[in-house]
Amino acid sequence: TIDQRVDSLLSQMTLEEKVGQMNQYNGFWDVTGPAPQGGNAEIKYQHLKQGLVGSMLNVTGTKEVRKLQKLVIEETRLGIPLIFGYDVIHGYKTLAPIPLAEAASWDLKAIQNSARIAADEASAVGLNWTFAPMVDISRDARWGRVMEGAGEDTYLGAKIAEARVRGFQGDDLSKPNTIAACAKHFAAYGFAEAGREYNTVDIGTSTLFNAILPPFKAAVDANVKTVMNGFNILNGVPVTGSTFLQRDILKQKWGFEGFVISDWASVGEMVPHGFANDLKHASELGVKAGCDMDMESYAYVNHLVESVKEGKVDEKLIDDAVRRILKVKFELGLFDDPYRYCDEKRERERPYHKDHQEAVLDMALKSMVLLKNEGNLLPIKKDQQRIAVIGDLADDKNSPLGSWRLGSDDNTAVSVLEGLKAYSNEINYLQGPKVFDDSANFLENVLINETDTSGIDEAVALAKESDIVLMVLGEHGFQSGEARSRTKLNLPGLQLNVLKAVYKVNKNIVLILMNGRPLTINWEAENIPAILETWQLGSQAGNAIAKVLFGDYNPSGKLPMTFPRSLGQIPIYYNHFNTGRPIKEPNVFWSHYNDEKNEPLFPFGYGLSYTNFTYSNLKIDTSDQKNVKVSVTLTNSGDMEGEEVAQLYIHDKVASVTRPVKELKGFQKIKISPRESKEIKFVLTDSELGFFNNDHEFIVEPGRFDIMVGTNSQEGLTGSFLID
Ligand code: IFM
Repeated sequence: TIDQRVDSLLSQMTLEEKVGQMNQYNGFWDVTGPAPQGGNAEIKYQHLKQGLVGSMLNVTGTKEVRKLQKLVIEETRLGIPLIFGYDVIHGYKTLAPIPLAEAASWDLKAIQNSARIAADEASAVGLNWTFAPMVDISRDARWGRVMEGAGEDTYLGAKIAEARVRGFQGDDLSKPNTIAACAKHFAAYGFAEAGREYNTVDIGTSTLFNAILPPFKAAVDANVKTVMNGFNILNGVPVTGSTFLQRDILKQKWGFEGFVISDWASVGEMVPHGFANDLKHASELGVKAGCDMDMESYAYVNHLVESVKEGKVDEKLIDDAVRRILKVKFELGLFDDPYRYCDEKRERERPYHKDHQEAVLDMALKSMVLLKNEGNLLPIKKDQQRIAVIGDLADDKNSPLGSWRLGSDDNTAVSVLEGLKAYSNEINYLQGPKVFDDSANFLENVLINETDTSGIDEAVALAKESDIVLMVLGEHGFQSGEARSRTKLNLPGLQLNVLKAVYKVNKNIVLILMNGRPLTINWEAENIPAILETWQLGSQAGNAIAKVLFGDYNPSGKLPMTFPRSLGQIPIYYNHFNTGRPIKEPNVFWSHYNDEKNEPLFPFGYGLSYTNFTYSNLKIDTSDQKNVKVSVTLTNSGDMEGEEVAQLYIHDKVASVTRPVKELKGFQKIKISPRESKEIKFVLTDSELGFFNNDHEFIVEPGRFDIMVGTNSQEGLTGSFLID
């Protein structure tokens, strides 16, 4: 068995070799060139030859991977293969929509398939491990990494975590087109204070157990092979050094058998956090807490052997970490063939495969959310001959690819303009003022033009002579992602100025939003008749957007994250708690803002369609208290086929730990023909009705539950039942 093979190998390893397996290095040098001379690269190269490296990140390409793999197989005493990791976040070459957009599809099958495609391409270039999915729940759109997650909801997030792990890992990890997944960042990284990257997290037990941990648990139950900890402290303890999270919960309580990788240099960052004296101390704390592999801190490789020899670290802990790492390598089939992922033929054929383009187009279609469509301005009518397109994002072949696209090639998205032109000869484009700097990249902040108004007058003149104006506005692709926190969530630069100027001369405007996070768009939502949220849809963005605008696909996405009215409302999320004074009182002393409504601009779960859906006939059957049955009739009362996401929410009215006013506990995405009705059924079991108390126990308490079934988190049919 694999366990026996692992034990037998472990018994032959020296302490140095064991610690080497726990070390991961970044490979930003020309690995196919001559052996590097000088600097870190030379040290890394020597360590590779000495068996002091277990894994590399950021080395891709079959030639590159083969070269380093050969080095360790042929030159080290035991020839233990490396595992090659990379951030394959929403595709390798062919890019799917950013994960937040995919979450808006609520389509688990499509999401799983999208991860499958990403794994297929990544494995064709030598990779066998992705640092995805990011399953951090976040309620703060200022945090740039919301683009990489599934949004604010724990239930939806857990389902998506499972789907993505299954997609990456497939049903047999040893196949050459499946790769190990990594649930990250364990834990609570999405709750960084004020949405500022790498910042403090300080939250209570109930939030940790009920809101944050379940998607990780879902990933573990789906057999995720690795988990990444994070940069943040949680209630004073860096998560990289948290025994409570990594040993007590993840490994012991949940029985996780894979290995934990640190985040980039997060072992070393325990020093500036004020938790460790120095790198040596940090390495001790990391391994004791259950962090099995050190990414780029140079802490384990340089200090752990000594710490074991000094009796500060028990070698049993090292053995446990190494056993876990070796096991995953065995499962990937690397001991049977270390070059399993170095198939040049696959490398030529799989990236940008035609089937992948079709699949990401389908995913992109499903990910768009129609936010407003007054007077049925959309889809574009045949007699709307003169179509103006305005905004530099319309002609951008990079921004639609979004952030975290390390393996992709620049300019590979179908731009909105290209997509539209393939549909109609009547497209007239004007950039308007240049908003974004074209040279923007992953390693630098995006420069925004805030002052140069040239181009506005021409845009207005074009709008004046057009039947309909498509304004493509939003964020640059690199304005979200890691280290892209913002304190403003409005349209950057002069975009609102142009929109207002155009609006003065032509009100037939469709606002096509392209962004990696919820935005504050109050004026836009109030005045612009049609708004389509397209996020960043990946390689096929323009084709997908054109199909929706011209009515060849009926939008079906629903927001996975609340859109605030004002920055001051953040954190704003649908499953909040009641205050003791929730109801409007005649005087001022109730829970509200003096200058803004409590309600969001667009709630979680919200999204329109070109057709209309109506809900009727809510039935609740509690005859089996362990399987409460809820059903509803869903009717397509419009005249276009469409897909609706029927959502079920519960509210546990009284509990020993107060429960949110609403919690999503079921959803179904259903395709339904015009005038057709379908009965939708849900079953509520203990796992939907229970919660974690403050002693970390999952319990179901008797009492009354309200439920709501409907089209978003604010509208639906309501009922109630009793659990005794
Ligand atoms: O995987 C990422 C992580 O999410 C953030 N820091 C860097 C890692 C490796 O690139």
